[in-house]
Amino acid sequence: RRTAVLISGRGSNMVALIAAAAAPDFPAEIVLVLSNNPDAGGLATAEAAGIAAIGIDHRLFGKDRAAHEAEIDAALRAAGVEIICLAGYMRLLTPYLVSRWEGRMLNIHPSLLPDFKGLHTHERAIEAGVSEAGCTVHVVTEDLDAGPILAQARVAVLEGDTPDRLAERVLAEEHRLYPEALRQFALSLAD
Ligand code: GRF
Repeated sequence: RRTAVLISGRGSNMVALIAAAAAPDFPAEIVLVLSNNPDAGGLATAEAAGIAAIGIDHRLFGKDRAAHEAEIDAALRAAGVEIICLAGYMRLLTPYLVSRWEGRMLNIHPSLLPDFKGLHTHERAIEAGVSEAGCTVHVVTEDLDAGPILAQARVAVLEGDTPDRLAERVLAEEHRLYPEALRQFALSLAD
């Protein structure tokens, strides 16, 4: 399955997906990395791995989100993409793009959804005093962080945890969970 990864930053989940997909029996192949931020560190990392990497700067489109997404959509279709993985993609997507990729777009979110949707998840988990945090891979729908859940991994919140320390342990689980969820999702697609 031809797969694109959408990033905005360092792209450590993207690296984990690329590494897993390099195995000959993996049912998805990373063919394109796209970023709304042309300076995203992950773009250079993807290029170094021999993967097509494109920055499509949202700032060039002003308030016209649909025009930005149309450009992304065109790049995805030109590359023959079948599955999209959002991995630290920090722009809210509008129904324009989401509806065009319905049932074909995954996201990883650093909390045990439905808890702690949105930003600053680790800080909020610690403040709430929960004993477990984690990460979730879900199918993207028009509501933020609310689509059908495919997989979760749990991490204990430790005494004296800071958001950074918790984030680091959750991130290690993300790197394991996302490739596994993509593998199962790619195998589950019928057509
Ligand atoms: C990850 O924690 C992801 O769950 C969140 O943003 C972070 C991206 O990290 N949405 P990276 O760019 O994959 O390193």
